[in-house]
Amino acid sequence: MAKKISLLFATPEAVPFGATGGLGIVLGSLPKAILQLSKVFEVGVILPLYGAVDESVRRDMEFLGCKEIHLAWRRQHCGVFKIVRDGVNYYFIDNEYYFKRDGLYGFGDDAERFAFFCKAVLETFDITGFYPSIIHANDWQTALIPIYLKRKYYDERRCIQTVFTIHNVEYQGKFGMEMLHGVFELDEGAKGAVEFDGCINLMKGAIECCDKLTTVSPNYARELNYAYFASGLENIIRSNAHKMTGIINGIDLEAYNPLRDKAIHVRYGRQSLQKKAENKNILQKALDLPQRNEIPLIAIISRLVAHKGMELIEHVGEELLQKDIQLVVLGKGDKRFEDYFHWLDFQYPHKVSALMMYDDVLARRIYAAADMLLMPSKSEPCGLSQMIGLRYGAVPIIMKVGGLSDTIRDVDYDENGNGFVFEHFNAHDMLYATQRAIEHYKDREKWNAFIKGIMGAQYGWRQSARKYIAMYKKMKDDRVNA
Ligand code: GLC
Repeated sequence: MAKKISLLFATPEAVPFGATGGLGIVLGSLPKAILQLSKVFEVGVILPLYGAVDESVRRDMEFLGCKEIHLAWRRQHCGVFKIVRDGVNYYFIDNEYYFKRDGLYGFGDDAERFAFFCKAVLETFDITGFYPSIIHANDWQTALIPIYLKRKYYDERRCIQTVFTIHNVEYQGKFGMEMLHGVFELDEGAKGAVEFDGCINLMKGAIECCDKLTTVSPNYARELNYAYFASGLENIIRSNAHKMTGIINGIDLEAYNPLRDKAIHVRYGRQSLQKKAENKNILQKALDLPQRNEIPLIAIISRLVAHKGMELIEHVGEELLQKDIQLVVLGKGDKRFEDYFHWLDFQYPHKVSALMMYDDVLARRIYAAADMLLMPSKSEPCGLSQMIGLRYGAVPIIMKVGGLSDTIRDVDYDENGNGFVFEHFNAHDMLYATQRAIEHYKDREKWNAFIKGIMGAQYGWRQSARKYIAMYKKMKDDRVNA
């Protein structure tokens, strides 16, 4: 039998062991999908052991060993734990000083925390016994892995091939040049790889040093060639275009299945849409909104930050609320937007419910209750909510950008349409698309037939995981033939 390809995903987050958003959801499902589709791989995932990991999960972990990791002048404890889920080996790097905190990132020493993590990933193969032939790193927190492999380690680890995925170019990991030696433990020779605009830019370094570069939709891969989307990295991305592939994310169709979802009040499917209406009724009651079935309930489930398009809503929110609609907003983010939605809720208590938090159970209940899901993103690498929305029969209203544009087609212009689309980042274009959705909704018989259709066509992992598999295999073949 041919030797297996051992593939190690390095990530700062993975559901259910710590997540703040889409990256965690993707890393919670892609490794399993790869294993299910191909017998050629051995799959591992390595991530920090965060304080937030549940006691019940910790109890099932096996302690594999520990060692001291050096990071410049520091000597840090590094414990390694393991758990196996769906055949995937999850490895956890333990250091309570770095990772037992309230939250995953946003600390003054994030550079040091993730430099430690990346070194630990590369220095604990003897403890895990998992010697990867490919490491697939994700976002800036793991960007030092391809950098270290090209510019720091001069031993057998140099044979490890790397994939680097950009989940969002807005978060690049930029730090002061003075950290080069003392925090990142890199020498002058590595400076060229990581330096950008007078700073250390870890994402830039990974783009330069990785063997394959991917991002999470074909359209975002194209967009990243332009300054409007690439946050300064357009030239670096263009000069590495030969390494770049855009592969759309999928969702775990089992984890997001309204027929089985334990979080929602009444489970339903395409053949029992009246039960979706019951979910709506229960949510309206819980949120103190009038319990009316015939009113369109529009949901926003998003981080409340500028690039998710919240300013468009700020512009025309009140105009939108002149219509007979209900608006439910779930998410956290910039104070400016949180304040705005609180204010809207205060002004229109019978129409708006603003829930400034992130809560997975509540999110699912809202998907199950909502008729429409508004995603007016200015940029959106992939977006998962629109896929979850389709699965739960909440029709996406989207800005034609990034992965949204790869997954949603306008029902007014395409017979296979599955949502409503506006093409310019403009508040009134968004309003118009929403109004079209509201008009369609009035013909409930047609609307229900539409929902039945969109709930049937799904974005699971199958196709996309196959693309990753083909890429990994080609990397191996190219190495053998080189
Ligand atoms: C980031 C992106 C989002 C994408 C997710 C998973 O959160 O903003 O568009 O779906 O990563 O790749």
